Amino acid sequence: MRRYVSKLTNWHLGFRNLNPLMVCVDCGSGSLSKICSFSSCCANLNEDSVKDNPVSDMLTDSFGRIHTYLRISLTERCNLRCQYCMPAEGVELTPAPKILTINEVVRLASLFVTSGVNKIRLTGGEPMIRKDIEDICLELSNLKGLKTLAMTTNGITLARKLPKLKECGLTALNISLDTLVPAKFEFMTRRKGLEKVKQSIDTALELGYNPVKVNCVVMRGFNDDEICDFVELTRDKPINIRFIEFMPFDGNVWNSKKLVSYSEMLDRVAKKFVSVKRLNDHPTETAKNFGIEGHVGTVSFITSMTEHFCAGCNRLRLLADGNFKVCLFGPSEVSLKDPLRNGADDMILREIISAAVKRKKAAHAGMFDLAKTANRPMVHIGG
Ligand code: GTP
Ligand code: 5AD
Ligand code: SF4
Repeated sequence: MRRYVSKLTNWHLGFRNLNPLMVCVDCGSGSLSKICSFSSCCANLNEDSVKDNPVSDMLTDSFGRIHTYLRISLTERCNLRCQYCMPAEGVELTPAPKILTINEVVRLASLFVTSGVNKIRLTGGEPMIRKDIEDICLELSNLKGLKTLAMTTNGITLARKLPKLKECGLTALNISLDTLVPAKFEFMTRRKGLEKVKQSIDTALELGYNPVKVNCVVMRGFNDDEICDFVELTRDKPINIRFIEFMPFDGNVWNSKKLVSYSEMLDRVAKKFVSVKRLNDHPTETAKNFGIEGHVGTVSFITSMTEHFCAGCNRLRLLADGNFKVCLFGPSEVSLKDPLRNGADDMILREIISAAVKRKKAAHAGMFDLAKTANRPMVHIGG
């Protein structure tokens, strides 16, 4: 049962061209009818969780965007060294005592969920590195009103632990994989491990994760020749392969020549898979989704650089050091850990969060300005 509020904002009318009469308060999407037509909407929310979980003003920004999706980075550490994510020598790490503990993660997550967040994604660094990852999943999945507990992982240590994680309430999985060639994997990640990642994808499929989303950052001269090989994986398996435009972050090797644009990637796919056809995307999604006749899986493009999707943004970020970030690319951050450790009550924390959300910009600065703007390295932010 979805809740709708009458809400016509400039954001919905001007930027998304949706012309909604009603806006779903769970996912922020607009619909002309009372039934939201997007399959990935928060359709399973029942009356009880709706009552438990009213969307508060705290999560609504000055453009009317409702932020019901929290990404929590659990660690700055990673067992790979992907070139697009960090320099070979790694990055400076926050000392362990300054990283959020499980109790702090759960306390803050609970505050967000009782305020209306219904989806949490665990990220890193590599979230599987946290020794208490099962307990974290168990505690978070028990939060009343949470509908989706997801994780983005590099898949290196996932296969063995996944059955337990599923029991602990992990409902959705995105796994990074940028090449199907072992030598290229080792070059890109500066580590071995392609077979382990492939095994994790297969284990996730066997355990019934559907779709398993596979994130592939496309870089010219590195893996742009493999786009159609990745698409081929979707023929028989319920994989959603997502080609991601390469984005600039501190310490990575971005330049515009390495960026392969959405339109170029789509052209390459369409030349080989002529039936490729755009699907009905959810307005808050990062991905533009496509189906191919006869393929069980789907293909998507994440077009942050050439066609940003900030108008539909419903995401907030809690970093491993307890800083709160309202935009992936926005450099501004505010600490939630410091007030929490100084004894702040929920009301004070809500005020800090609300003020940061209200300061969120309409959109990111555009790729050339982003490349010049100071931000954290990607491994700190978690995507
Ligand atoms: P879903 O929750 O399944 O939709 O996944 P997601 O795409 O939000 O998250 P994931 O961690 O799989 O990230 C895939 C790519 O999307 C990465 O390159 C992220 O950096 C990028 N991404 C995630 N959230 C945002 C966002 O809010 N803005 C932008 N520009 N990119 C994002
Ligand atoms: N550009 C685009 N995507 C990136 N990711 C990491 N760094 C970049 C970048 N520079 C992706 C990873 C992972 C997700 C969290 O972010 O592939 O799947
Ligand atoms: Fe949201 Fe910022 Fe990403 Fe745009 S760049 S979609 S505003 S997080």
